[in-house]
Amino acid sequence: MATKSIAVLTSGGDAPGMNAAVRAVVRTGLSYGMRVMGIQRGYNGLLSGEVTEMNLRSVSDIIHRGGTILYTARSPEFNTPAGVQKAADKCRDMGIDGVVVVGGDGSFRGARDLTNAGVPCIGIPGTIDNDIASSEYTIGFDTAMNTAIQMVDRLRDTMESHDRCSVVEVMGRRCGDLALQTGIAVGATSILVPEVPFDFKKDIVDRMTLTQKTGKKHFIIIVAEGVGGVDKLAKDIEEATGIETRATILGHVQRGGSPTLRDRVVGSEMGAVAAKLLYDGKSNRVVVMRGGKIVDLDITEALNMQRVFDKNLYDIAHRISI
Ligand code: F6P
Repeated sequence: MATKSIAVLTSGGDAPGMNAAVRAVVRTGLSYGMRVMGIQRGYNGLLSGEVTEMNLRSVSDIIHRGGTILYTARSPEFNTPAGVQKAADKCRDMGIDGVVVVGGDGSFRGARDLTNAGVPCIGIPGTIDNDIASSEYTIGFDTAMNTAIQMVDRLRDTMESHDRCSVVEVMGRRCGDLALQTGIAVGATSILVPEVPFDFKKDIVDRMTLTQKTGKKHFIIIVAEGVGGVDKLAKDIEEATGIETRATILGHVQRGGSPTLRDRVVGSEMGAVAAKLLYDGKSNRVVVMRGGKIVDLDITEALNMQRVFDKNLYDIAHRISI
């Protein structure tokens, strides 16, 4: 039987820990005697043939690096039936028997479509947003949270010195997990997430004035990207409370930086499991975390799952940050 060739790509927004996953796919694949190719710039690179053969040294000294050595992109062309067919033809031309896709939900839909076009694919959740319903954890989330709390700790120093309020927007797309965990870790007076409607007076102003009466003089409000509007919120807070307020959008700084231990370890395990699945002839699977364990699920089943927001943790956060 001819040597099996697999490929790996990263797609969508980059996330710290993607490199650990790529490294694990490459080295696991090679350890099973497969050829491993690296596709650059996501599905775009597959369409344009930006593909290089990987060896053990291609992935040296990358486990500690943020971003993705394979680069990444969002690909409008691939998101069409003709694009998917072209990508499948490219795989056949280049002798690629299977692809590991590291990315978010959109990347998983691409993996499902490519599988349906005849190229077995395995997905790995890589996004700082933690917004993939089928997985308790996505690679990059831990690093992003740690970056966010470091940034907010810096803001706290200056807010405390001036007796001010800081309204901080963190990323997460439509998911409030990054805001919730960051908010707890920095002791935010209020945390606003898209999953829970809020009342400006009750959930922000009253909480600030209540804590002010007990001696608190500076405040942090964490706002998820999916709620947004921090500039207006800061103005409204200042007007309603008389407390000087500043708005900060943390932005893409949250996507960079050296991955934490968790992202390196989870990325490594997921990458190894994905490469082995392809070696075993499996297809259309996603490697996810469930019950704290790394398992694999059917992609279509995974894509149909609904995310459940941790309302209990959200309630705890507001009970103790007062
Ligand atoms: O999915 C990761 C993420 O950083 C989101 O939190 C954010 O909404 C989006 O990507 C930003 O995308 P872009 O890289 O296109 O600015």
